[in-house]
Amino acid sequence: MAKKDTMKTAFGRPVGNDLNSLTAGERGPLLMQDVHLLEKLGHFDRERIPERVVHAKGAGAYGYFEVTADVTKYTKAAFLSSVGKKTDVFARFSTVGGEKGSADAERDPRGFALKFYTEEGNYDMTGNNTPVFFIRDPLKFPDFIHTQKRDPSTNLKSPTMAWDFWSLTPESIHQVTILFSDRGTPATYRNMNGYSSHTYKWYNDKGEYFWVQYHFKTDQGIKNFNGAEAKDMCGKDPDHATRDLYNSIANGDFPSWTLEMQILTPEQAETFEWDIFDITKVWPHSQVPPITVGKLVLNRNPENYFAEVEQAAFNPSNLVPGIGVSPDKMLQGRLFSYHDTHLHRLGPNYNLIPVNQPKNSQQLNHQRDGAMRVDENGLGRPNYWPNSFSTIQPEGKNEEPEIPLHSAASRYEFTHPNDDYVQAGNLYRNVMTMADRDSLITNILGNMAEVPLRIKLRQCAIFYLADKDYGERVAKGLQLDLGLVERLASMSQEERVAATADL
Ligand code: NDP
Ligand code: HEM
Repeated sequence: MAKKDTMKTAFGRPVGNDLNSLTAGERGPLLMQDVHLLEKLGHFDRERIPERVVHAKGAGAYGYFEVTADVTKYTKAAFLSSVGKKTDVFARFSTVGGEKGSADAERDPRGFALKFYTEEGNYDMTGNNTPVFFIRDPLKFPDFIHTQKRDPSTNLKSPTMAWDFWSLTPESIHQVTILFSDRGTPATYRNMNGYSSHTYKWYNDKGEYFWVQYHFKTDQGIKNFNGAEAKDMCGKDPDHATRDLYNSIANGDFPSWTLEMQILTPEQAETFEWDIFDITKVWPHSQVPPITVGKLVLNRNPENYFAEVEQAAFNPSNLVPGIGVSPDKMLQGRLFSYHDTHLHRLGPNYNLIPVNQPKNSQQLNHQRDGAMRVDENGLGRPNYWPNSFSTIQPEGKNEEPEIPLHSAASRYEFTHPNDDYVQAGNLYRNVMTMADRDSLITNILGNMAEVPLRIKLRQCAIFYLADKDYGERVAKGLQLDLGLVERLASMSQEERVAATADL
C-alpha cells in the first residue's frame, strides 16, 4: 500500500480531523475559530469560474503535429520548417451554444481548437468542424449567439429566435445547410474534420505572402448521427463524445487528422471567383486543390480537467512569425474578443496557467504584476523599455512584412461578386447524397414546425434560392403555398421581409 502523507490546510498546517466541525459542546453551535472549516467552505464557495460564453462544453487532449511536406516556400514558421519536425499540441473540441453541462450530441457546429507549442511561441488555430460560418461581420456575432442560447423570457431554447435571425440573414444559408445536415451531429469528436474557416496569411523569409485555409481531415472517417440517433444519444449519454475521446486515447487508439492546405498567391486571389475574406464561402477544390502538409495525432489525456481543459485559453491572435491574419472582418473581430474574454474568465495572468504557457518558448518582456501573478514576476529585472540594463530586446526580423492599406473608413456591406446561394446550392445538388438530402429536410422540418408563418416563408424562399428542389421540399413539408414561396424568392430580401411582415 502506498505511503500516506498527512493532510494539510491550504497554508500547510497538518490537519487533525476532517470529518467533525469544531462546536461549543457536543450539540452546540460552530466556533468561529474553526479556521480549517472556514477555509474549506470559503474555497468551495469560489470553485466555479465563469463558463465560456460560447463553446462551454468541451473535451481536450494532448498530442503532436508532424510536418510531412516542405512548405518553406510559403511560410517561415519554425514549426513548419522541415519534413519530420514534430511540435507539441493541445486540442479542445466543443459544442457552441449549450452550457457546460449540455449534451455532446446536440445539433451545433463543433469547435476544433489547436494550440501548437512552437519554439516561437504558441500558435493557436481556433477553428470549427465546418468550413464556413453563419455571418461575416463581427458586429452580428453577439446577436447571432443570443439566438442560439435561451429565450430571455422562457429560458428555453427557441427555434423561432434562430430561424428569425437566419431568415433575416441570407448569408447564413451555407452554414445552415451544413448544420441541419447530419454533419451538424457528428458521431464523435474523432469522426469530424477541422477547418480554419477563415483565410489566413502565410509569409516566407523573402517577405512573399500567400492566402491559406487549413483543413484537418479526420483519419477515422466522417461519421454522423442522424437526427433521431442524436436525440437518443443526448438522453442516453450527454457526455458521449467526451467519453469517446478520453477512452480512445486511454486505450491507445490515438485519433489523427491529416492537414491539407489550400494556398492562393496574391495574384490568384485578385481574380478569384469568390471573395476570399468572406467566411460564408469555401474555395472550391477544383479551383484550389488542397495539398497535404502534416499529421495531427492526439495521444495523451489531461490529468485534471479543470486545470488543463477548463482553463485552456485559445486565441486566434496567438500567431507566430510566418503566419498572419487576413482582412476577413470576422477574424479581425475575433482578434479582440478572445483575449478580452480570457481577461474576464481567467484573469490578467491567464497565460501563466500551465496549459496556456509557451512551453517551447518563454515569456520574456516587461509586463509585471496583476492578480494571480504566480511566477517569479521578472524578479529584479527592469520592468520598462527602453532600458540600458536588460538582456532582452525586440528584433525587427520578427515583424510581419508591411501591409499596404489605401481605403476610406466606412461601414461597408459585402459588395464583391458574392452570390450567397450558389455554394449552398452546390452542396445540396452536387455533394450531398440522396440520403444526405433526406436527412437535411427531415432535420429542418422537425426544427421549424413551431416557427411563425412569416419566418417559415422567408426561410423557404432562401432555401429555394439555394436550390429549387431544396426550397420546394421544405415548403411542402411545412404545408406552405409553393406559389407564394416562389414569388417571395423572386423578390429582394428587403421586399421579402416587407411582404411577409404581417403574416
Ligand atoms: P468538392 O466535391 O471538391 O468537395 C466537397 C467537399 O465537401 C469535400 O471536401 C468533402 O469533404 C465535403 N463533403 C462531402 N459531403 C459533405 C456533406 N454532406 N456536407 C458537407 N461537406 C461534405 O466540392 P467543392 O470544393 O466545389 O465544394 C462544394 C461544396 O462542398 C461547398 O459548397 C461546400 O459546401 C462543401 N465543402 C467544400 C469544402 C471546400 O473547402 N471546398 C470543404 C468542405 C465542404 P469530406 O467528406 O472529406 O469532409
Ligand atoms: C470560443 C468569440 C467566431 C471558434 C469563443 C469564445 C468567445 C468567442 C468569446 C470563448 C472563449 C473562451 O472563453 O475561452 C467569437 C467571436 C466571433 C467568433 C466574437 C466572431 C466575431 C468564431 C469562428 C470560429 C470560432 C468563426 C471558427 C472558425 C471558436 C472555438 C472556440 C471559441 C473553437 C472554443 C475554444 C476553446 O476550445 O476554448 N469564441 N467567436 N469562433 N470560438 Fe469563437
